[in-house]
Amino acid sequence: MLTSKRIAVLTSGGDAPGMNAAIRAVVRKSIFHNLEVYGVLHGFEGLLHGEIHKMELGSVADIIHRGGTVLKTARCEEMFALEGQIKAARQLMEKGIEALVVIGGDGSYRGAQSLAHQGIQVVGVPGTIDNDIVGTDLTIGFDTAINTVVDAVSKLRDTAASHERAFIVQVMGRNCGDIALRAGLAIGAESILIPEIPSDLREISEKLLRGYRRGKNHSIIIVAEGAGDIWDIASKLSEHSGFENRVTILGHIQRGGAPSAADSVLGATMGGKAVEVLLNGLSEVMISSCRNEIIERPLELAFSSRPPFDPALYNLANELAI
Ligand code: F6P
Repeated sequence: MLTSKRIAVLTSGGDAPGMNAAIRAVVRKSIFHNLEVYGVLHGFEGLLHGEIHKMELGSVADIIHRGGTVLKTARCEEMFALEGQIKAARQLMEKGIEALVVIGGDGSYRGAQSLAHQGIQVVGVPGTIDNDIVGTDLTIGFDTAINTVVDAVSKLRDTAASHERAFIVQVMGRNCGDIALRAGLAIGAESILIPEIPSDLREISEKLLRGYRRGKNHSIIIVAEGAGDIWDIASKLSEHSGFENRVTILGHIQRGGAPSAADSVLGATMGGKAVEVLLNGLSEVMISSCRNEIIERPLELAFSSRPPFDPALYNLANELAI
C-alpha cells in the first residue's frame, strides 16, 4: 500500500498517440485520490538526471487530444546497467516517491522491472504503435497508426491509379506485423508482407500479374519493416512481374498526429487503471486490454514470448486479395 502518497509517471521509448490521454488520467485520478503526482521528463534518461516535477490538475489541461507525449521521451542505455537502476531508484526515493507508472513498450517495462527490484512499486502501461506487447490485445497508439497508414495509402492510391503503377509501402512495427496486417486489411492491399510469415515474392508477382490480366491497373503492397529489405523486395517484384513500382516509406508520420477516439479512450482507461492498481498495493504489473476489458496482469508476462500472431486474419487478407 502507498504510504507517502507520492507517485510519478514517465513515458519511455517511441512516442505514441494517446500517451497524453494516459498521462492525464494518471495525474487527475491520482489527485482525485489525494495522491501527490510527479511527472518525469525524458523517460528513464530524465529520471537518472532528476528531471522530476510536481504535476497539478492544470499540468495536463488541454493535452488529451494531442499526439506525442508532453513528458517527452527517450531511449536510455544506462538503465540496462545495475548502477543506472540504483541511481534511478534513488532519485525517486530522495523525493519520497514510492511508485512509478511507466508508459511505453516492453523495453520500457524492463526498466520498470529493474526499479521494482530496487524497491519501487511499478506498473507498466502499454504505449507503442507497434502492438507488440505480450499480455495485451492492444497498445496505446496502434489504432491511430493504422488510421494514419490508411489515410496515407488512400492518397497513394490516387497516384497509383493515375500512373497505373504498383506501390510498395513500408510501415513500422519493428518485428511485429500487426500494423501492416490491420492496415493492409483495411485498405484492401493486394499483398501484405509481415515478419511472422515468410513471403514468396514469385507468388506475389504471379498474383499481381493475375490481377493485371483481370483488368487491374494498379496495386498496393504493404510491407512491415521487419519483413525484409524494402528495396530488395521492390526490385525482385519488379523483376519477376515486369511491372514498374515505387517505394514509399511512411516512417515516423505513423507515430504522430492526434490520437483516434479509440486511443484516447484506451489511454484514459489504462492510465486510470494504473493508479487503481497502485492504490491497491500491487506492483510489477502491466495494464492490459483483454477481450475489451482493462485488467492488470503480471509484468513478467510481457517478457515471456513473442506477441501472438493472428493467422486467421492473415489468411483472410490473402483470401480477399486473390
Ligand atoms: O517502437 C515504435 C517504432 O516506431 C517502431 O515501429 C520503429 O521500428 C522504431 O520505433 C523507430 O525508432 P526510432 O524512432 O528510434 O527511429
